Amino acid sequence: MSDKVAKLELDGKTYALPVLKPTIGPEVVDIRKLYTEADVFTFDPGFTSTASCESAITYIDGDKGELLYRGYPIEQLAEKSTHLEVCYLLLYGELPTASQLADFTQRVTRHTMVHEQMHYFFRGFRRDSHPMATMVGVVGAMSAFYHDSLDINDPWQREVAAIRMIAKLPTIAAMAYKYSLGQPFVYPKNALSYAGNFLHMCFAVPAEEYVVSPILEKAMDRIMMLHADHEQNASTSTVRLAGSSGANPFACIAAGIACLWGPAHGGANQACLEMLKEIGTVDRIPEYIAKAKDKNSGFRLMGFGHRVYKNFDPRAKVMKESADEVLGLLGIEDNPTLQVAKELERIALEDDYFVSKKLYPNVDFYSGIILEAMGFPTSMFTPIFAISRTVGWISQWKEMIADKNQKIGRPRQLYIGPQKRDYVDLRHR
Ligand code: SDX
Repeated sequence: MSDKVAKLELDGKTYALPVLKPTIGPEVVDIRKLYTEADVFTFDPGFTSTASCESAITYIDGDKGELLYRGYPIEQLAEKSTHLEVCYLLLYGELPTASQLADFTQRVTRHTMVHEQMHYFFRGFRRDSHPMATMVGVVGAMSAFYHDSLDINDPWQREVAAIRMIAKLPTIAAMAYKYSLGQPFVYPKNALSYAGNFLHMCFAVPAEEYVVSPILEKAMDRIMMLHADHEQNASTSTVRLAGSSGANPFACIAAGIACLWGPAHGGANQACLEMLKEIGTVDRIPEYIAKAKDKNSGFRLMGFGHRVYKNFDPRAKVMKESADEVLGLLGIEDNPTLQVAKELERIALEDDYFVSKKLYPNVDFYSGIILEAMGFPTSMFTPIFAISRTVGWISQWKEMIADKNQKIGRPRQLYIGPQKRDYVDLRHR
């Protein structure tokens, strides 16, 4: 706690607001007592200048293009770690020892199956339902099955709920995919890795053996690591707000999945690949650049721009390298969509509009190209984002619930509606 204060002059009075110091990043002005002392609210609808909580999990420096998970740079983790090791790091704060990682992997592996009755939920959906619609429903319904991990005040039940979510989201996402294909569900295989098991559940069929490609397994694991957590983004803030009311963890994660689905957030990877395919060829890029600059078009370059990154998104850099590597290893480096993406990035980054507004490719710009090369339809891109982000959501949720000072989230407003007035009978209107 520093003794630095910010002074606010209002209506002839001066208010001293404490300034809190972070480990790294901007200091924050503590306004918790402002309303009671000065009878005013602050106004920040998109939370562009607002810190909603204290957190020790992830740090982003938008100017440096830096992303740290518990202090470790994402580039180092993407190169040297695995998604399950990153899950341990995000959940518990430190990199695991070999025995801790083996135990954690074993606990997750042994929770990958879902209650057999959950299969019936899928039958209530149309086959052409978006997998995100199915996932919101089925993940929310987990609270109807796992009653022994609903008590948020019991640390052990919180731990079990966290393991269950990390373990079962891939199974549920794969079931949503299989259901949309009209193919039978494929059960988890404990001998496979986390990423390998997900690929197997998505692409195996009873009629023949499916061998997991090490190239795709490594690429999928890296994609999961890159999407694991990202400070107080929209879906994480949704999970925290839902959790602040005491809602059970499965309901909170279902709320996060619903928020992630939006094209401005996690839905951007699907929207971005669909945009790249609509552009189709390099010669049509100028037409779309012009549309993105035309305020009246309502069109935005999907996969571009970010609330925090005003330089480059470090995840996009790793993803671009991974796209080159994976497509090269698959022998499709001349993939037309990848060529359009690279040329679009090059042209946009030389255009004053994008440079002046500090718009760079974000995590969603290249991920879809890799996922399509793996054989996933665009409708599965956001479910894969949700699988990955589950550990971030649940880690942030656990951090909030364990904070003895946490309160229910309840913002106020700037009211611009009518003054108080009396009811008018119908015959006088
Ligand atoms: C994710 O928060 C997170 O951390 C999210 C995420 C995570 O890991 O959780 O990183 C994942 O959601 C990545 C973002 C994916 N979304 C997209 O790719 C959709 C396209 N991008 C945008 O809609 C937008 O850039 C946002 C939503 C990502 C950020 O929006 P902001 O910070 O609110 O910025 P803004 O909408 O106020 O835009 C600032 C200016 C505007 O122009 P002016 O009104 O100032 O003239 O930049 C323009 C915008 O019109 N702009 C774009 C643009 N993004 C912003 N113009 C064209 N194309 C774009 N993509």
